[in-house]
Amino acid sequence: MDLRQQAALRALNDVYDGMALGLGTGKTTAYFIDALAERIRSGELKHIQAVPTSEATAARARQLGIPLTTLSTYPQLDLAVDGADEVDPQLNLIKGLGRALLREKIVETHARELIIIVDESKIVPCLGSRGPVPVEITPFEVEMQVRWLNTLGCRAELWLEQDGSPVVTDNGNHLARCYFPPPGIPDPYAFARTLADRPGIVEHGLFLDLATRVIVAGQDGLRILERER
Ligand code: A5P
Repeated sequence: MDLRQQAALRALNDVYDGMALGLGTGKTTAYFIDALAERIRSGELKHIQAVPTSEATAARARQLGIPLTTLSTYPQLDLAVDGADEVDPQLNLIKGLGRALLREKIVETHARELIIIVDESKIVPCLGSRGPVPVEITPFEVEMQVRWLNTLGCRAELWLEQDGSPVVTDNGNHLARCYFPPPGIPDPYAFARTLADRPGIVEHGLFLDLATRVIVAGQDGLRILERER
């Protein structure tokens, strides 16, 4: 079985009848959504409601018969389950290389528990050591914002589709990808604050102090990492 699927199936152990769930985005979460739908169909899980973090996740859940809801109805979710692009030893994350970081962050900050499901390739000593940090930017003056990002100790570029047009998110914004030189982002908290203070930068893919548990599937089996509270 695919390692990502193993992590996804383990996360189902934490889902109980009557829960309001946040549903993440990406290939690993797709395994979770499929298995969740199966348990709802078979009657093993009842009265589940879910808030999706992207149009793709909403479509998949709808197609599989998972009841969808909103944060207006459930401002406090019991649990959110999502993948990640990188996980560091403090369980801080880079997310969003599936292009859904804004809705993921909105939904997941409203969850009591955030379980991250990954295969072991996503575990890193330092955020930014494996890949870029995605940053969501308003289309207005996007090139100026990318130039500014390049002054922050990284190499930033506008994320383009194969045909050369800028990627457009579910929210109608663009994305930049910020690549840090080894060993990675020197101070993720400082970088996150700098981005948060900048008008026109809508959100970024640093998910700091949000994950409560990480399920890591590796060749030697499953490991559960818990955040110290
Ligand atoms: C979506 O925007 C992302 O945050 C994903 O959760 C992340 O990219 C992991 O995706 P995969 O499970 O497809 O690797």
